[in-house]
Amino acid sequence: SENKKIVIAVDGHSSCGKSTLAKALASLLNYAYIDTGAMYRAVTLYALRNGLINNGKVDEAGLIAQLDQIKITFRYNEAAGKSETFLNGENVEEEIRQLPVSRNVSPVATIGEVRKHLVALQQEMGKDKGIVMDGRDIGTVVFPDAELKIYMTASPEVRAQRRYDELKAKGEDVSFEEIKANVVERDYIDENREESPLRKADDAIVLDNSHLTPDEQLEWANEKVMERLNRN
Ligand code: DC
Repeated sequence: SENKKIVIAVDGHSSCGKSTLAKALASLLNYAYIDTGAMYRAVTLYALRNGLINNGKVDEAGLIAQLDQIKITFRYNEAAGKSETFLNGENVEEEIRQLPVSRNVSPVATIGEVRKHLVALQQEMGKDKGIVMDGRDIGTVVFPDAELKIYMTASPEVRAQRRYDELKAKGEDVSFEEIKANVVERDYIDENREESPLRKADDAIVLDNSHLTPDEQLEWANEKVMERLNRN
């Protein structure tokens, strides 16, 4: 029917364009977009600021004890035309993308209690459907009954090239080989961690976007959405 709304889960490897597709799809459908990676990043920023990470070592018990004091919200910035992440009311959208957070988020995301806490928040955010959520475990753990699950991937070379171009454009001095090694290493960590490892849900459809433009990906995804909306 006209008003039927669904849950769309977008999972996959890092740097393969999940958020680009998820944002575009949400905007096309007039759905909410939730970047769950930003939530793990916001918790990591909180931990860094509160002395709960020292030399890369997370004080797990300390962080777990303070989880209830970490409020994460998203607000749409009309002027910027994008959704921004807030930590206890402060706009942290820029800071959570910077190196200190990027370096420390992986160990934070392996803590079972942190995951349980964030998954509960994510389920609450999606309870009325009409949502596109991107992450690693959305189709497997957060919304196992999502009407549409997309599992995105692209070859390590293509992802490394995209990341390399991004960093070069920002004026950073990096080598392609170094970036590619980092992409491969992050895949390994994501797929092999004990807590909610990255894996394709049985009923997810694979989108390998190595050779697809953002517009082609959006068209592909929108077709899948229309199929779901027209079911029964
Ligand atoms: O997608 P991203 O790079 O912003 O994700 C940041 C980190 O959080 C990365 O280490 C993977 C992890 N993550 C996760 O474990 N589960 C999610 N649903 C989303 C991100």
